[in-house]
Parts: sequence; structure tokens; C-alpha cells
Amino acid sequence: MIFDILTLFPDMFRGPFDESIIRRGQNKGLTEIRLHQIRDYAQDRHHTVDDSPYGGGAGMLMKPEPLASCIEAAKAINPSAIVLLTTPQGRLLNQSITRELSLHSGLIIVCGRYEGVDERIHLKYVDYEISIGDYVLSGGELAAMVLVDAVTRLIPGVLGSEESVQNDTLSNGLLKHPQYTRPPEFKELSVPDILLSGNHAEIAFWRRAQSIKRTFEKRPDLLKNAVLSEKEMLYLSSLDIADAV
Ligand SMILES: C[S@@+](CC[C@H](N)C(=O)[O-])C[C@H]1O[C@@H](n2cnc3c(N)ncnc32)[C@H](O)[C@@H]1O
Repeated sequence: MIFDILTLFPDMFRGPFDESIIRRGQNKGLTEIRLHQIRDYAQDRHHTVDDSPYGGGAGMLMKPEPLASCIEAAKAINPSAIVLLTTPQGRLLNQSITRELSLHSGLIIVCGRYEGVDERIHLKYVDYEISIGDYVLSGGELAAMVLVDAVTRLIPGVLGSEESVQNDTLSNGLLKHPQYTRPPEFKELSVPDILLSGNHAEIAFWRRAQSIKRTFEKRPDLLKNAVLSEKEMLYLSSLDIADAV
């Protein structure tokens, strides 16, 4: 997977992209991340990348010409990539969208700034608009980091076998079950006996039930898309609605 990130602030990426899973993806040769300074594509001697909006109003907009040239340059070196624009108006990022994105061979991610980008960039170049939540950030850089992290961990081989994406929260539409590690007793709280029993079938059953219960309590909205067996549906209907938050 090749990520081309178009930004006015490439230095923001240096720390986060040099650590942990994102670093590992690059070290294993499974991902490549290239940062492009949009300002380098401005034509005038002041390297202007913004201008005031037609019709008036507060703030500035990203001018179309430098951004268009930058996108075209990224497409020239990553021809099969799709173009994503970070925007609070986009599709709300979730695990199934990150899975869908991870199947592409390249992603060109445009980081907006100011009041956003000229509408003609949306119309001419953007395949998907992505939002990372219903709040407004000052720029698309943090959203791009979230996208790269969430997609990278889904690329086969990036995570070791000990870290399974299959068991991640939301990967099967449910929240993950509670987890414990040593010691068995901590601040007068014990690890559930079942997890110490060594009975793998019962542990799997307990985990699945806890996963359903936890989803019911914390994110009941997810249950409408979860695939549950008849027995699990019965279990779900036995849960007390008063437990739901
Ligand atoms: C201050 S915001 C512009 C918001 C714009 N005026 C609007 O109301 O839609 C500047 C940039 O931050 C990025 N951004 C802000 N919130 C975001 C979010 N929730 N998800 C993804 N990107 C976001 C976008 O790239 C956006 O162009």
C-alpha cells in the first residue's frame, strides 16, 4: 500500500509515522508513505495557497490550482490510487470503511486547511470524502494520521500473529470482551474463574457472551448489524434493558 499525503504541514507527521505499527509497516516493505508539500505547487513567487471565498464570509479557502497540481503529481506516481479528501462533511470513518480502503493498492490523502478547499477540487478529483468524527479539526493532518494507522494495521503481515485484527473491537460488528492479564488478583478485583480454567471451549463461549453483553450496554446501535446465532439472539433478549447506557 502506498500512501501519498498532501499537506501544508508535512512536519506534523514525523513523530507519529516514525513509531510503532506505522513504522513497522514501512520497515517490512508493506507500506510506503510519501509526504507532499502542497505549497511547492503554488505558481506565484509568494507560494500562495489560499484566497478569500467568492461571495464573502470569514476565513480563507485553499486555492484550486496548487492543490490540483499536487494531486496530479501524486496520481502520476501512484496511478491506481484513489483520492480521499479529509473533511467533516465526509463519510464517517468506521471499521468497514477502513477495511474497504485497505484493499486498494494506493491512497492519496488530501489534508484540508483554513475553511476547506475550493468546491471544484471535490468535483474534479475526489473519490471519497472522509470524516473522522462529528467535530471540526483545524486541519486534515490528524485525520490523515488516523486513516493511515487504521488502514495499516489491516494490511496482511503488518501485525504479528500474536496481534490479531480479527479479534479487534468492531471487526465482527461487536465490541471486544473484557480482557485481563497477570496478576490474578489486583486491588481486590479478581480475574473471572473461567479465564483461569483452561477450558478453551467455555472460554470462547464466555468471551462471545461478554462481547454481546458489552455491546448491548455500551453501543446498542451496533447490534442491528451484528450477525448473531439463534441462541445468541435469545441471550441478547434476556439482557436487562436497564443495563444499557
Ligand atoms: C477548519 S476545517 C474546515 C471546516 C469547513 N469550514 C466546514 O465547515 O466543513 C479545516 C480542515 O480540517 C479538516 N477536518 C476538520 N474536521 C475534520 C473531520 N472531522 N474529519 C476529517 N477532516 C477534518 C478538513 O481537511 C478541513 O478542510
